[in-house]
Amino acid sequence: MSHSSIPSPATAHKSENLSGTIRVPGDKSISHRSLMFGGLASGETVISGLLEGEDVLATGRAMAAMGAKIGRDGEKWRVAGTGNGALLEPADALDFGNAGTGCRLTMGLVGPYHMTTRFTGDASLSRRPMKRVLDPLRQMGVAVEAMEGDRLPVTLRGPKAPAPITYRVPVASAQVKSAVLLAGLNIAGTTTVIEPVMTRDHTEKMLAGFGAQLDVEEDASGVRTIRLEGQPDLKGRTIDVPGDPSSAAFPLVAGLIVPGADITIENVLMNPTRTGIILTLQEMGGQVDIVNWRDAGGEDVADLRVRYSELKGITVPPERAPSMIDEYPVLAVAAAFAEGETVMDGLEELRVKESDRLAAVARGLEANGIDCTETEACLTIRGTPSGKGLGSGTVETHLDHRIAMAFLTLGLATEKPVEIDDSTMIATSFPQFFDLMGQLGAKIERTGAASQ
Ligand code: S3P
Repeated sequence: MSHSSIPSPATAHKSENLSGTIRVPGDKSISHRSLMFGGLASGETVISGLLEGEDVLATGRAMAAMGAKIGRDGEKWRVAGTGNGALLEPADALDFGNAGTGCRLTMGLVGPYHMTTRFTGDASLSRRPMKRVLDPLRQMGVAVEAMEGDRLPVTLRGPKAPAPITYRVPVASAQVKSAVLLAGLNIAGTTTVIEPVMTRDHTEKMLAGFGAQLDVEEDASGVRTIRLEGQPDLKGRTIDVPGDPSSAAFPLVAGLIVPGADITIENVLMNPTRTGIILTLQEMGGQVDIVNWRDAGGEDVADLRVRYSELKGITVPPERAPSMIDEYPVLAVAAAFAEGETVMDGLEELRVKESDRLAAVARGLEANGIDCTETEACLTIRGTPSGKGLGSGTVETHLDHRIAMAFLTLGLATEKPVEIDDSTMIATSFPQFFDLMGQLGAKIERTGAASQ
């Protein structure tokens, strides 16, 4: 869907005693991959717990445009795939809306197909760099037409005989790693990805589950070499998508900063490539108890009990960034209530997310009276534990769902309300955000079109 729709501002007010037990929607990364790999594999894939956010639905529409049959069946989604190597040329451009993951992974997936595929997106996605994915595709022989700076709209024309490559990922990015591996699915021979810094490993794990031959080697310094044998026979399977830790992060931080809060978030994905935020909040003194740790279809999940805590500022190790890259906006909110200074470094990738998140967070904090310093790749925040004098600003969200949710979380503990200019983008990743936060007792009101 496009976001030319009317902005819907929202305001968060100081709240107390948040309490209750909730489940956040399915993990976004796993949901995208479930529809993508299910749409590619032969036979049926049955998915429960799929995130029905706009980003994921855009990926579903793209797979359907290339021949997969995708439908909802009660609580589950059923996908009948085309068989690996048998995607069809889409009649129209694939519109990924706001979704970088869907767009970049699909570019990899279809790049080597001997067909023409066009990719479009909303204003935010059209500003984001695609070169990181297009460069390896070019090395495989894919012809690329793109706007200046390798931006959308992009047209890919796959060669008759794509070549397998060995690719060292130049930025810590699971999307780039995944795009290269997915391209390798339709190329004869071995595609190799070298990943100097480990990022989320859902593509490797899930592709193996669908029957791909992958070999992962890690050297003493943590550099991973992933080898994928091309043209595997992929077979449909059953997937239970665990709750998204990146969505859980909002009620998690709300629980820590709202006096008297005691909440439980059930069934959260605990894959270690995703849990940096929990560790960091614990190091800040946050009472986050991880209970009922269990295996759910090959991924660890647990319930998180979180209680209001007196937080202290820390220096977040930069090497932890890949395991919490989407959580920095809401971590900044926790830091705003921590005693002392919180230093977050190694954040250059935040500048190329759905918005320039480093700048968007710094401006939003400043607008609400929070003292912070922004440099090229670092944000330092000096907190006010009582929240006194904070708030009353309006935050520009720049079509970024996580900026919107982070600042609504901020307003639950500041003395004065916090307004965001638009909340419509929240539907891309966490459509139940308002309902679930309301259930916990959070005072958030939507004041625009979506509220009517
Ligand atoms: C994702 C990878 C990350 C993350 C994004 C989801 C994925 O992006 O920020 O929200 O599902 O592979 P990068 O690959 O750019 O780090």
